[in-house]
Amino acid sequence: MSDNQKWSILQGDALKVLGTFAPNTFDAVITDPPYASGGRTQTEKNKSTARKYSSMGENAPPPFDGDAKDQRSWTRWAAEWLYEARKVCKSGAPVCMFIDWRQLPAATDALQWAGWIWRGTAVWDKGNSRPQKGRFRQQAEYIVWGSNGDMPISRPVPCLPGVFKYGNPQSRIHLTEKPLQLMRDIVKITEPGGHILDPFAGSGTTVLAAVQEGYTATGIEVTDTYAELARERIRKELACAA
Ligand SMILES: C[S@@+](CC[C@H](N)C(=O)[O-])C[C@H]1O[C@@H](n2cnc3c(N)ncnc32)[C@H](O)[C@@H]1O
Repeated sequence: MSDNQKWSILQGDALKVLGTFAPNTFDAVITDPPYASGGRTQTEKNKSTARKYSSMGENAPPPFDGDAKDQRSWTRWAAEWLYEARKVCKSGAPVCMFIDWRQLPAATDALQWAGWIWRGTAVWDKGNSRPQKGRFRQQAEYIVWGSNGDMPISRPVPCLPGVFKYGNPQSRIHLTEKPLQLMRDIVKITEPGGHILDPFAGSGTTVLAAVQEGYTATGIEVTDTYAELARERIRKELACAA
């Protein structure tokens, strides 16, 4: 943990690192895993994430790992890490997992296989997206959410919206970085002062948002470039705010 034990970014494979935490460590899991969704064929999926998710060529943010699984392998893997994450959460802890339209059915299957109660799907409306003649725009991503067993209505958490409208961040340091304000809204599903786990931290948006909202947070990130970028970003942002 850094900054008076408020946050940490651990570098490693989520499946391995999750096994090192004690039961009842976390009050929520809020995460944005690799969707392994870019590309319709396996050949397209196997391309570097920098090529799949950016048209910036050499100026694109660094590529990241874990995005080339086919849907069957992704679902099995997601069920495994969701199970390991649930084992280290307190009873009643919420889970929120970002996903796109292609992997939405796989994500809700994996969540339930892992023993979480699936409670709903919120929407991130990104607004601007590529128009497609004769088709609907793909302008939303989804937040599959649920809880580790019962989730009493008496929890000290306010009513939360079901649709979040935020454009993609303008200057991204991660290929699939989420808007900071979006994550500040989402973490509020956690009880005040809780400890939030993000097993796929990327550039650290969830961890930063959590600390800014008064929580503590632990992120795990396998790609060492991003683990370091996330630590630098969080330190810098929190120092500016201090
Ligand atoms: C969709 S991105 C998260 C982006 C993040 N929400 C942000 O705003 O920057 C998913 C991240 O998970 C990481 N990842 C992939 N496989 C992983 C694994 N097995 N364990 C931990 N991290 C992993 C990737 O390196 C990538 O940075």
